[in-house]
Amino acid sequence: MATSTAFDDLLADDGRVEPRDEMPDAYRRTLVRQVAQHAHSEIIGMQPEGNWISRAPSLRRKAILMAKVQDEAGHGLYLYAAAETLGVERADLLDQLHTGRQKYSSIFNYPTLSWADVGAIGWLVDGAAIVNQVPLCRCSYGPYARAMVRVCKEESFHQRQGFEILHTLAHGTPEQRAMAQDAVDRYWWPSLMMFGPPDDSSPNSAQSMAWGIKRFSNDDLRQRFVDMTVPQSEVLGLTLPDPDIRWNEERGHYDFGPIDFTELGEVIAGNGPCNRDRMAHRVGAHEDGAWVRDAATAYEAKRAARTAG
Ligand code: ACO
Repeated sequence: MATSTAFDDLLADDGRVEPRDEMPDAYRRTLVRQVAQHAHSEIIGMQPEGNWISRAPSLRRKAILMAKVQDEAGHGLYLYAAAETLGVERADLLDQLHTGRQKYSSIFNYPTLSWADVGAIGWLVDGAAIVNQVPLCRCSYGPYARAMVRVCKEESFHQRQGFEILHTLAHGTPEQRAMAQDAVDRYWWPSLMMFGPPDDSSPNSAQSMAWGIKRFSNDDLRQRFVDMTVPQSEVLGLTLPDPDIRWNEERGHYDFGPIDFTELGEVIAGNGPCNRDRMAHRVGAHEDGAWVRDAATAYEAKRAARTAG
């Protein structure tokens, strides 16, 4: 009882929970679930864009894309490290990803069919990630909140590079413009789905908000994303594939059309266009990397033996 009171007081004061603090088991489990899922999303997210590194249209674009994909690997590392402060092992988390017991973001199960998709991912997917993640910098769990500060700075760069790719294509030849529009048409709705199910069918939201893990609901963040993105689409001169988008003076927000949450459910259940490819690639990369992990373990054992001797 005393423990839960100290935890409750800390949350009531908007304090940060640190790894050695007492915390309810359910709080710890929720954080492991969310932080692990977030980490998995970062490393699976390397695949759709990684596909385009060898086909980027110039050396400059290639260098930027390589840096971006490396950033995603770095985000995965900060997040696995944050998850480990909750008393779990990174190897176990990866095992749960590989066996389908933990999830990763739905968005990475869509294919990247053209170079413009790299732009759409930067502008829309990383834009949505920023809207979702900036409030997580104030998450009640200290290590997760601190990891988010750097992640968000890097995501801002990613979002701008995507916007700049699309801006260049939208002002290029008619074919380039059509390619940019096609990418936006395909990525718009899946980006809105990234925010999760609507509030009235989001089983985790109420408790996560009470614990200060989530600061805003799925629908509030989705609305914030739409409000931010519509004016940007006007600057790009591209349209968003939703005839219902219009400014609502009374609400002070853009209205938008209904989202097909059946599609989100299907993608989360493993039936999106690329789920199987993404997992097969990830498991293959993990197996191919076994010799690196073995070598590092052997090296560490030798070093420890030398120090002990
Ligand atoms: N993709 C996959 N699964 C999802 C998605 C999605 N877009 N949205 C919701 N879900 C899952 C939830 O994980 C939950 O399943 P679980 O209980 O088995 O974990 C279920 O659907 C119901 O959803 P919610 O109750 O709304 O779940 P939650 O409160 O965790 O909210 C959210 C989901 C908003 C994604 C939250 O976990 C979050 O903010 N996570 C951190 C951000 C993140 O992971 N971003 C990754 C993509 S961004 C990027 O890497 C570029």
